[in-house]
Amino acid sequence: MRPHPEIDFQPRRTRPLPVLATAAAAAALLAPLALGPAHAAEPVYEPWRDAASDHGVTMGFALSPQHLSIDGYRQVAEREFDLVVAENAMKWDATEPSRGAFSWGQADQVAAFAESIDADLYGHTLVWHSQLPGWVESISDPVELRTVMHDHIDAVAGRYAGQVDAWDVVNELWEGDGSRRQSVFQRVLGDGYVAEALTRARQAAPDADLCLNDYSTDAINAKSTAMYELVADLIDDGVPIDCVGFQSHLIVGQVPSSFQQNLQRFADLGVDVRITELDIRMNVPASAADLQRQAADYRAVVEACLAVDRCTGVTVWGIDDGHSWVPDVFSGQGAALPWDAQYQPKPAYSAVAEALGAELDGGSGPDPTPTPTPTGGPDEGTCSVAWSVAAWDSGYTGTVSVTNTGPDPWSSWQLVAALPAGQQLQQGWSAQWSQSGGTLTASNAAWNASVPPGASVQVGYNATHAGDTTVPTDVAVNGSACT
Ligand code: G3I
Repeated sequence: MRPHPEIDFQPRRTRPLPVLATAAAAAALLAPLALGPAHAAEPVYEPWRDAASDHGVTMGFALSPQHLSIDGYRQVAEREFDLVVAENAMKWDATEPSRGAFSWGQADQVAAFAESIDADLYGHTLVWHSQLPGWVESISDPVELRTVMHDHIDAVAGRYAGQVDAWDVVNELWEGDGSRRQSVFQRVLGDGYVAEALTRARQAAPDADLCLNDYSTDAINAKSTAMYELVADLIDDGVPIDCVGFQSHLIVGQVPSSFQQNLQRFADLGVDVRITELDIRMNVPASAADLQRQAADYRAVVEACLAVDRCTGVTVWGIDDGHSWVPDVFSGQGAALPWDAQYQPKPAYSAVAEALGAELDGGSGPDPTPTPTPTGGPDEGTCSVAWSVAAWDSGYTGTVSVTNTGPDPWSSWQLVAALPAGQQLQQGWSAQWSQSGGTLTASNAAWNASVPPGASVQVGYNATHAGDTTVPTDVAVNGSACT
């Protein structure tokens, strides 16, 4: 298996385990049992797929159908996701191990499972240098290789025509410096093989969106720019290209700052974009601080997608840390997925749910013991707030749910609150956060500006503290004090 050499090794940070503040501890008692040593139990939110549908996006996962016999795996798969991609089952070595001898068992299982949960089916992948049988790798005659590539696309894309919504037609065609990877297809057929594969796939599966997919193209860099220029050229040449996938196999703390801007520049070309293989790895055993950082990273990735109109959603590359490609390839690393090996949700699960604006399951809000805040002021009574903190020795994560309890919709909102002495904002999500003296301010993000009467919005932030971890007070939204 090929590691990703251009992704730097991330040194392990060690931080003490967090100590839950009172409100969060109460919430934890009502949530599923935490089995891992480094993360507390997470609240249960409405399914990701339901929250995502409010944004017009889908949440996907890479399925290995042999794991469906595991109750925890299947239950998460059925509850959370509305897009399924085969982790391995639709690749060349799985579908056509010998020339013209096709094997559909696992691929059909993936398609059937997607249908059974009313999920989109995403095809991965038709033309790729890896997991490619030796009999293809050894072809040196262009006429023969062209025929073999066409036959493979016809058979695989054709079999699932009408079922697969989008195909990764060509996967990982670039080297890190933006030059073409010297796969057998590149060496024998030249640059034109990409356009040929796309054109053939359109014939075989006329209704499927056709994508190019790669890793380390998440930032604006030489590799993503090579992809960008190719997509622009393909469009100019009338070649069918509908979408670009950004794998996003990331390292904790290293979500590229240009991620959203990069997605947007592709969208501006007129193609859809998708986060196709998200996982965020770290050194193991994972520290509580790294799991919190990972949660913030997952949140940032989902928010970047939601901020780009043509982003169709996010696919995580697996479900749980017990079944992930990461430890096999990156020695000493893992913990890259939102569920742990016992299928207990990690902080990343909650972060994704909150980024999607998910309600707590049953609509009870993220903190079952909301902290009342002082009321008063002329417009009293148009908002309520539930505020909780999960603290460790020097910092905490604050989670805030604000509900519009008034009769009128909010088209924008701004929350202000008084921070207890010694608390200092570090970073926030799902809003624009700032601190001036002891006043904390959060203004809506573009995607959660609109809050109808009765609806809630969830936001969060990290702060340092000097011993006082009580929740902020004097909360007001749009000038109206909250109850
Ligand atoms: O199927 C054989 C099995 O017969 C054999 O007994 C076993 C012994 O190790 O190996 C099995 O094959 C493994 C296969 O996964 C199926 O489990 C391969 O060794 C292993 O290399 C392969 O790894 C996959 C990897 O792609 C191959 O490149 C990972 O599961 C899969 O998650 C990973 O996915 C790729 C995407 O397709 C493209 N982007 C990067 C991503 C991560 O590398």
